[in-house]
Amino acid sequence: MQLSKFGRKLGQQSGIGILMDDLSKAFAGEAKCMLGGGNPAHIPAVQQRFREIAEGIMETPGAFEKWIGNYDGPAGKVEFHEALATMLSREFGWDIGPGNIALTNGSQTAFFILFNLFAGEFPDGSHKKVLLPLAPEYIGYSDVGLSEGLFTAAKPDIQHLDERMFKYYVDFNAIDIDESVGAICVSRPTNPTGNVLTNEEVAKLDALAREAGIPLILDNAYGTPFPDIIFSDAKPVWNENTVVCMSLSKFGLPASRTGIIVASEEIIRAVTEVNGIVSLAPGGMGATLAMELVRSGEIIRMSRELVRPFYERKAKAAFAQLDAQLGDVPCRIHKPEGALFLWLWFEGLPITSQELYERVKARGVVVVPGHYFFPGIDDPEWRHTRECIRVTYAPDDDIVEEGLAIIADEAKKAYSAVRA
Ligand SMILES: Cc1ncc(COP(=O)(O)O)c(C=O)c1O
Repeated sequence: MQLSKFGRKLGQQSGIGILMDDLSKAFAGEAKCMLGGGNPAHIPAVQQRFREIAEGIMETPGAFEKWIGNYDGPAGKVEFHEALATMLSREFGWDIGPGNIALTNGSQTAFFILFNLFAGEFPDGSHKKVLLPLAPEYIGYSDVGLSEGLFTAAKPDIQHLDERMFKYYVDFNAIDIDESVGAICVSRPTNPTGNVLTNEEVAKLDALAREAGIPLILDNAYGTPFPDIIFSDAKPVWNENTVVCMSLSKFGLPASRTGIIVASEEIIRAVTEVNGIVSLAPGGMGATLAMELVRSGEIIRMSRELVRPFYERKAKAAFAQLDAQLGDVPCRIHKPEGALFLWLWFEGLPITSQELYERVKARGVVVVPGHYFFPGIDDPEWRHTRECIRVTYAPDDDIVEEGLAIIADEAKKAYSAVRA
């Protein structure tokens, strides 16, 4: 098969492709402890609420037919934009209207569109990149570029904290925003680390982006006001220069593939055009399911009272178990401030994190080796990229417990092999 440059770049195996493949195989029963993917938990009270809404749609004459039978416009369901704009203005005082919102088929698609709008080859022949001011960053960004080398990233400032914890901070001395940077992007909370950039860090990035005349893209897939999987104080931010990307996935609707972009009207128009070309219209079934929850603000209450506490409890339990079972293994865990993951850093790991991944996988536990999460970092000498793994604590408690015990056991074996 002869492939174009596009085909060679996007039509071959990628980190995110392997991850999603692992995930689907795990659901097919191939792995006993799937701690690798980013699938959100099935939270019974959230699912029950969606069941009631779906039943309401089924019982209302004509509603089901409309739900499945109509295309939306290329920006998505306008009633949903209206409801969301009203809610965000009310809650956060954001000065936005429906024209500041577009839906995409999952926020993954939003990043594909946005990164390629602001980075890559420009009409004057110049080439721009997306700056990730703090690596590690989300694996799903790595391969979305239509051209090579779409990212540049900065290593973090690493601070050791008490109780086996550490935290990454943006190293502003390491950030260089010149003509070659077309946009800045951070996930907050961050996948894979559970880090939440401080309000000061976001304010500084916002100022830097405005000064450079480039957008600041905030990936809010786990953020506030929904699903609100944040355990620290994080002020939501939006202004004309900020692009906030949200999603219904981690609130409990990953299958609906509903991504949301909140941005200036100019950016929304560009996204809408791409949507029309690539997918005619984004899927509207998720927006319909969530419409009333957004209109009434119930989605905020559910996020605060159901979703966030659910994950916070699981994060604490997973941390406590690892802390106890790792014993004297020199493993630090990133301070869990949000999202669905623990990020384990095995200092001086005698094997690579890829090898550790393979050893635990042989025992039925799937994790993600850390080296995938450093898009834009090109430093083979930096051991840190090969000393970390990401585990999700979203699955059922017994699965998480069994998986973490095997990880701790294999880590102990890896270190004791060199000590012996
Ligand atoms: C940080 C982050 N951003 C974006 C996404 C994409 O999610 P979706 O396309 O389901 O909205 C994910 C999914 O795991 C994620 O972790």
